[in-house]
Amino acid sequence: MTASPRVQERIDALRELLHHHAHRYYVLDEPEIPDAEYDRLFRELQDLEAQHPELATPDSPTRRVGGAVLEGFAKVRHRVPMLSIRTETDIEASGARAFDTRVRRELGLGEGDPPVEYVAELKFDGLAISLRYEHGALVQAATRGDGEVGEDVTQNICTIGQIPLRLHGAGIPAVLEVRGEVYMRRDDFERMNERQREKIAQGAKNEKTFVNPRNAAAGAVRQLDPGIARQRPLSFFAYGWGEIEGGLPFATQYELLEALRGWGLPVSRETRVASGAEELVAFHQQIGARRDQLPYDIDGVVYKVNDLALQNRLGFVTREPRWAVAHKYPAQEQLTTVEAIDVYVGRTGKLTPVARLAPVFVGGVTVTNATLHNEDEVLRKDVRVGDTVIVRRAGDVIPEVVGVVPAAPGESPPRGDVFAMPRHCPVCGSEAVREEGEADYRCTGGLFCGAQRKQALLHFAQRRAMDIEGLGEKLVDQLVDAGLVKTLPDLYRMGLANLVALERMGEKSAQNLLAGLEQSKRTTLPRFLFGLGIRHVGEATARDLAKHFGKLDAIMDAGTEQLLQVPDVGPIVAESIHTFFAQPHNREVVEQLRACGVHWEEFEPAVQAPLPLAGKTVVLTGTLPTLSRDEAKDLLEAAGAKVAGSVSKKTSYVIAGAEAGSKLDKAQELGLPVLDEKGLRQLLAGSADPF
Ligand code: IVH
Repeated sequence: MTASPRVQERIDALRELLHHHAHRYYVLDEPEIPDAEYDRLFRELQDLEAQHPELATPDSPTRRVGGAVLEGFAKVRHRVPMLSIRTETDIEASGARAFDTRVRRELGLGEGDPPVEYVAELKFDGLAISLRYEHGALVQAATRGDGEVGEDVTQNICTIGQIPLRLHGAGIPAVLEVRGEVYMRRDDFERMNERQREKIAQGAKNEKTFVNPRNAAAGAVRQLDPGIARQRPLSFFAYGWGEIEGGLPFATQYELLEALRGWGLPVSRETRVASGAEELVAFHQQIGARRDQLPYDIDGVVYKVNDLALQNRLGFVTREPRWAVAHKYPAQEQLTTVEAIDVYVGRTGKLTPVARLAPVFVGGVTVTNATLHNEDEVLRKDVRVGDTVIVRRAGDVIPEVVGVVPAAPGESPPRGDVFAMPRHCPVCGSEAVREEGEADYRCTGGLFCGAQRKQALLHFAQRRAMDIEGLGEKLVDQLVDAGLVKTLPDLYRMGLANLVALERMGEKSAQNLLAGLEQSKRTTLPRFLFGLGIRHVGEATARDLAKHFGKLDAIMDAGTEQLLQVPDVGPIVAESIHTFFAQPHNREVVEQLRACGVHWEEFEPAVQAPLPLAGKTVVLTGTLPTLSRDEAKDLLEAAGAKVAGSVSKKTSYVIAGAEAGSKLDKAQELGLPVLDEKGLRQLLAGSADPF
């Protein structure tokens, strides 16, 4: 069938539209149309191209679905080599100063000369890629390989939504090679691994989980089946260039990055121009402090001389430019060996296997043990004593064993036995059981178990529960070990004489503790409930229960049906509360605590009038004239509404203030009711007057 000019016109229009919306969605993060509409346009183009294969082009958006499975990758010789950069080994601020000193010396600058201007960028932890655009269309994507020859991974790269298949805007060189990093966001990585685990649990062969986002990204790019590559959520940042026909159209690195952004490529917003060494030091420190809040892994920052003429003057040593340096942060993953696998007993009796490690400096601290989560995890990773393992510590997260490093070929270092979870609690010897459908073993000893007793006391005493001043970990250990405290009420029965008899306990500290205990007796129902340590009852649930029932006795006597009436209480939580209060010894603990003088104010729960905004979803955008965002949110939630972060068809109202952005556009597009602060107050007025 020969295509009519109208078909060609429609195809062109669809491609234009889809390129535009892909850019809004993947690069700017500001979609203008709902996903379903994008999918509709996409399918229309796919159908037209299927009917008229002669009209298919290599840069059509439909290429993103990926083509046939490859036998292997073709080799690509880079016309401009892909170099690496020297790493400044000194992690401290002096690393930035050493680089600046070298640059100034090479340029022959003296003390009186002005500071050198740099561009400071993030060092993304992914895989270097070169994208070749000819007349604005992506024609080839290649890995770095050995720097001279890489592999043609065009098919896979085409599946990455953030990478434009066609550039837009003015002044695009006829040939433009863009260099950058393909990476995977941490949340995408977690979701993908979660999916992989599910597939494995369902018996899928040939599926595996990935050790870290970098490996996952590299594996996806070098995946021979583009259909699989497409399912791996990859992202991209441009940071440099290779061949440019007609030479460089800009004078600085920064201008070039801005131009790349203007043509539709994703360029990091964290990039800064820095003048002299001290601004580089500040950048290194600021990014270092926020490293764990970034949505992707970085392993350092990169400094580049901004002026391209100066870059040219500085040139290269062997295969590294003199005008750039990577300034690293402490690695978040390190290798070490497993010396033992211990089992730790938590407050709720949960048994957690913990790897005791040869001390290793990782993520800025020395780590000697790392969680292995549960029995299945140890077996899945097959961690054994004597193994070399990867330990990861990012931010304040508990260090974890990521996986075992396989022994070198031909070597078989001694390994311990396959891990087996003990069938008895290592602290009290009670039976340890794993309930059907649960990942964890639990000690059945309850408060008989010393470990659980200590944790339960600490939980009860903590600031957000009973707030017992002066009762910390060391003292709890002492009180339990001395046999002075076996149950929660025992805390309120200790006399001065018992306390002073403890080692390292002076009369003054003993009196302070007793005063702290006395003060804690006057509390609130939510704090008390939370402090009891009922499984699945966190602070929020404790608050909801107190609000709903008003009185502790009503909660203790409630059946699961009644408990299910409480907002956000589901069957598992209801069952847990019911079971807790069905145990005579738990009721006894409550009675004794009351008898010791622990008290709070109770109230008759208001006859529950349905809340005026129950079942409604509201989105806030922009700045309201008098209410802060948090205040507006609190008021809405008090009236029963759910406050959501993004606008969808399910949104009931959008409350828009000054400088409302894309959420307002979307609301208008979907025809949703949009209110200002006055409208919001009217909406709330149906509830108990909040003002
Ligand atoms: S510039 C000639 N900038 O780090 C300079 N590299 O050896 C070439 N990387 O594997 C590199 N973020 O993929 C540069 N902002 C950034 C970077 C970056 C990550 C990677 C690059 C390469 C290694 C440097």
